[in-house]
Amino acid sequence: MSEVGEFVQKPASLYLPFGVGPRACLGKELSVKMMKTVAINVVRRYEVKVVENQRVAMTNKVLSLTTRHGLKVTLKKRL
Ligand code: HEM
Repeated sequence: MSEVGEFVQKPASLYLPFGVGPRACLGKELSVKMMKTVAINVVRRYEVKVVENQRVAMTNKVLSLTTRHGLKVTLKKRL
């Protein structure tokens, strides 16, 4: 999404977790839908706040970009 909330088309080769080309993951659409469903259900049920003043370091030692020490958040159940 752009900063003004518009959809921006990017080449598929920029997103690597599922591979690209003729042998790319056949479960990609299903997996992304499942991840979105999980995320939607978490934010619907809980208020998620990132814990302040924590060290957040990115690592590229694995194929997908990830945080080295995780990302601590607090969850408060929505009423
Ligand atoms: C987060 C979940 C998943 C990730 C990150 C993932 C990632 C990958 C990657 C990196 C490949 C190799 C692509 C390549 O060789 O270029 C692959 C292949 C494949 N994946 Fe997944 N995958 C996921 C879930 C699934 C699911 C749920 C299914 C089936 C329902 C699935 C079915 C396949 C199949 C059949 C291939 C082989 C495709 C081929 O060689 O033609 N994947 N996946």
